[in-house]
Amino acid sequence: MSYIVKCFDCGREVKDGLLDSCPTCSGLLTVEMDLSPLAGKKLKDLRKAPMGVWRYAPFLPVDQNKAVSLLEGGTPLYHCKNLGEKLGMKELRVKYEGANPTGSFKDRGMTVGVSRAVELGCKVVGCASTGNTSASLAAYAAKAGLGCVVLLPSGKVALGKLAQAMFYGAKVISIDGNFDEALDIVRRLAKEGHLYLLNSINPFRPEGQKTVAFEILDQLDLQVPDRIVLPVGNAANIWAVYKALTEFRDLGWIDKMPRLVGVQASGSNPIFKAFEEGKHDFKPVEHPETVATAIRIGNPASGRKALKAIYDTDGVAVEVTDEEILVGQKLLGRTEGIGVEPASAASIAGVIKLRQSGEIASDDQVVCICTGNLLKDPDTVIKNSGEILKSKATMEAVKRLISN
Ligand code: F0G
Repeated sequence: MSYIVKCFDCGREVKDGLLDSCPTCSGLLTVEMDLSPLAGKKLKDLRKAPMGVWRYAPFLPVDQNKAVSLLEGGTPLYHCKNLGEKLGMKELRVKYEGANPTGSFKDRGMTVGVSRAVELGCKVVGCASTGNTSASLAAYAAKAGLGCVVLLPSGKVALGKLAQAMFYGAKVISIDGNFDEALDIVRRLAKEGHLYLLNSINPFRPEGQKTVAFEILDQLDLQVPDRIVLPVGNAANIWAVYKALTEFRDLGWIDKMPRLVGVQASGSNPIFKAFEEGKHDFKPVEHPETVATAIRIGNPASGRKALKAIYDTDGVAVEVTDEEILVGQKLLGRTEGIGVEPASAASIAGVIKLRQSGEIASDDQVVCICTGNLLKDPDTVIKNSGEILKSKATMEAVKRLISN
């Protein structure tokens, strides 16, 4: 396991482990793994280890033996035949990240990120979050015995996520502003040495998040799907998926790349807009809004990485309305029994849209990454799931209701 941290923009190596951007050009950081120990090896050599993030340890820049782990990853890949039939698709699959220890894909990045914090000797970790990152960081910080500070946009974090961050003992600070403002503050706190930053601009986080793509390919026995579809918020996860695919390709384990589809909510859509204009950089959206609060982000920190991931795979960015997101969420639940939060349902809504426009063909093999669990956001679920029937406590009254 050897690697360098380098600048995504100017390519220079960056040696100071506490920086969140390039000291020369302020660019984004990324990890470059030395994969030469894997030369001549095959995926099946890794399969002796159980499914999960740490099966892919040779691709990860921290020592597995010292990892802070809650046994993350190893999530189901469902073949959604019922929903596929409704959409006229044979090969629609959902990678269900809601099955992770804290109920979202963030645990994959956090096991690596918090392990890195421990390796660096940091005592306090922190992040800004729309909810899931804070829930995950709080849990892994508790496991590692570290202090934890999370900054959340006031009134815009789903109840389950807030409950988790409080429950695991983080110092929860509600900011009178949005995620982008909270991220700006926490980055400055990190720069002044108050905490170790574990947002996804920390290049160790996407390294863990790569494993969702490794697992999809592992579960498909290296049959490369035509498309992988995922929601885009702060925009690191689509980069992580891209990076994973390039690593398997560079080892010769796969011979083609799936086309990546980045889905944004139409009220928080800077990456979609940039893609529409063929640009490699984006203009921030000033007042982001969406029912999918997890991706209510106007100025995605890793936005340029996301655009590269999309262009390099001949992919697309799409936007979906809140209504389309809620339709996708309900349809997945009621045809497949899979419950996901609104941001995750954006990927389903994206597939519906691209299928209707003909961009996705009926025989395309498509994998949707559904990033978070239904129970993260119970308020939205209850609001959109119809009425509860009220009854007197008698057989007759109940019978009348069920026969109606
Ligand atoms: N889906 C869910 C459920 C999320 O929580 C997030 C991001 C995303 C998708 C988008 O991933 O940011 O890598 O593009 N949530 C962050 C948070 C911002 O603070 O929990 P991304």
